[in-house]
Amino acid sequence: MVNKRERILIVDDEAMVRRLLRQKLSREGYQCEEADSAEQALDRLRGNSTELVILDIKMPGKSGMELLPEIRAGYPDTAVMMATALTDANIAIQCMKQGAYDYISKPFNLGEVVLSVNGVLERRRLELEIREYQQYLEQRVEEQTKEIRKVFLGAIEALAFALEAKDRYTAGHSRGVTEIAVAIGRELGLSPDDIEDLRWGGLLHDVGKIAVDQLIQNKTGELTPEEYEHIMIHAHVGAGIVKPVVNGKVVEMIEHHHDHYDGSGMNQVVIGEDIPLGARILAVADAFDAMTSDRPYRSAMSIEEALSEIMRCTGTQFDPVVAAAFLKIPVPGIVLAGV
Ligand SMILES: [Fe+2]
Repeated sequence: MVNKRERILIVDDEAMVRRLLRQKLSREGYQCEEADSAEQALDRLRGNSTELVILDIKMPGKSGMELLPEIRAGYPDTAVMMATALTDANIAIQCMKQGAYDYISKPFNLGEVVLSVNGVLERRRLELEIREYQQYLEQRVEEQTKEIRKVFLGAIEALAFALEAKDRYTAGHSRGVTEIAVAIGRELGLSPDDIEDLRWGGLLHDVGKIAVDQLIQNKTGELTPEEYEHIMIHAHVGAGIVKPVVNGKVVEMIEHHHDHYDGSGMNQVVIGEDIPLGARILAVADAFDAMTSDRPYRSAMSIEEALSEIMRCTGTQFDPVVAAAFLKIPVPGIVLAGV
């Protein structure tokens, strides 16, 4: 059914042509407006919702052909029909290639004009409905994707926490590292996507410890070099575990979270700025959280001692820019004066 309240703007320099079209289309129930030039047409379009413009191809000043792309660009929901003398049929076809919906030829057969107008408005309506439906579908997909990510993140969190819960020394470590890493990322002005990656990296960075011998991990004495090397496989193992389900940045972050800025870490293949930024952030967050927690082989350091240690290792173990950002974060229980 045609919605006869639709608004049609008739643009033609000849008053008689405008009147003829207006009378016929008004009788059909459309709301009609007139403009005698391109400038007046743009004026009428501004601030008014217009469903259709019937546009004379040849007008003094700016022609209908010149006006067409402006209307298409400025009012993409407005359909345009060209009105032309029979001899200009090729130009009219040219206009259709540029986005006009149809053309009508002068002298008009008013019955055909009405049919064309109805057809164009019907097509426009269908196109808008399809576009709205596409937008609705895109929105639904986006919502579902968010929901799936949320559920997945919850499952991963549960896995990381279950792993930590086995060991009283590491309980809460992933969450603590995540909070600090996210705070550093914000301090560095990272994008929301990068912050989201940090969140995943923080939660999952030690998931590879599932492959570490519990006896070695919980050893109270000093680790032998071989034992230390065994523990450090967790970074590579963890990257392999999460690879199928997180993006490449998070995988890299986990793979390199024990790299030292100066290249002195174990089996390190990248150095300095070549270490992914997320991994350099995790390194600081991880070290601080670990130092301020009890470990089988030592008691927790005080926050002041841990901060001094971060500062001492800036430029060697830690990226100076990341360490400086970390030192700007307010740490509960301590006044960060002078750091
Ligand atoms: Fe680790």
